[in-house]
Amino acid sequence: MKKIRVGLIGCGSRQNVHIDALLQMEDVEIVAVAEPVEERRISAAEATGAKRLYKNHTELYEKENNETLDTLFIAVEPTAHENIETKAIELGIPFLVEKPMTLDLEQAETITSMIREKSLITAVGFQDRYLDLMEMMKEEIPKHKTGGIVNGSWVGGIPGVWWWQKKSTCGGQLLEQNIHLVDGLRWLFGEPLSVYAVNATGMVQPGVDASPEYDTDDYSICLFRFKNNITVSLASGCYCRGVQPKNGLVVILNDIILDYRLRNNLIITTKNKTLDIKRINNQTYDLDRDFINAVKSGDGTQIRSPYEDALQSLKVAFAANRSMETGEVVYFKEDEQ
Ligand SMILES: NC(=O)c1ccc[n+]([C@@H]2O[C@H](COP(=O)([O-])OP(=O)(O)OC[C@H]3O[C@@H](n4cnc5c(N)ncnc54)[C@H](O)[C@@H]3O)[C@@H](O)[C@H]2O)c1
Repeated sequence: MKKIRVGLIGCGSRQNVHIDALLQMEDVEIVAVAEPVEERRISAAEATGAKRLYKNHTELYEKENNETLDTLFIAVEPTAHENIETKAIELGIPFLVEKPMTLDLEQAETITSMIREKSLITAVGFQDRYLDLMEMMKEEIPKHKTGGIVNGSWVGGIPGVWWWQKKSTCGGQLLEQNIHLVDGLRWLFGEPLSVYAVNATGMVQPGVDASPEYDTDDYSICLFRFKNNITVSLASGCYCRGVQPKNGLVVILNDIILDYRLRNNLIITTKNKTLDIKRINNQTYDLDRDFINAVKSGDGTQIRSPYEDALQSLKVAFAANRSMETGEVVYFKEDEQ
């Protein structure tokens, strides 16, 4: 059996989750790793058996091409993408890249055009599109032809990694982490019509509670309007200490309530019954499997979050950030969707 040869760019915490998934696949071999931090590079090579080690993506691209690699998994911090994707496209190497794919929208647009031109297979790490609970919601919601209210939240503790403590390197909690729920909302309800957002800073003390450079939003709240009278309030926060609220999405339609507890369970309430459904699947495994299948078959049409679609989620999150800065509602134009 010919195995799919994978190269890894970045060997931090998220890539380790992909490594775990890929190691379970008999038709995959990880052959190359690129990572500046020596300890991470070596540990990834030991875990995967990769024999070709590089200090960064530039070194990797000096030696590798689409004859030596079938695909790349890219998981670097949001401001480190440089020419990682454009080079992969030039070389014709399909890639899976983590969200948020960059903090530079112009760069994301260029990458999208290049991908389209080459019809290259890509996927973005919006793992929740593969979550069984989200699939159930996606199936259920269109059966109820009513509008309603959605309350969403992803609020937690102060992020540990350096780049997540600065808005200029993470984009803020909404764009960095809660983009998963932004993407989930698009997946469930279609493209938003408008967003208004407010943020708060100054609660987490730089140099006391976090690094001296800490300047990201403590929290933000977005108000999204969607078609069919769906209005969503979405809270994002990273300021809690020692306490952890319940996160997820509560969808309140006139004859059903879907209470989705983030990546854990889904409580469905109707007039006559309440069902509590636990998550069963490993959504990152399913995302990676779907992508590998696409690379094997050359058909990327089943991938749930190709780069071009993920770009829309990035644009929506950027628009919310813009609203926080200006205090204005941002209306989405049809051609932005
Ligand atoms: N889909 C998800 O659920 C999910 C979960 C966690 C993180 N993420 C995303 O994954 C990305 C990485 O997050 P993380 O938590 O793994 O961060 P991390 O800081 O743990 O790892 C990033 C790694 O990339 C390496 N790197 C930077 N530039 C590089 C280059 N030019 N070549 C090779 N390696 C390079 C860094 O040295 C670091 O080890 C972020 O965009 C984050 O938002 C996604």
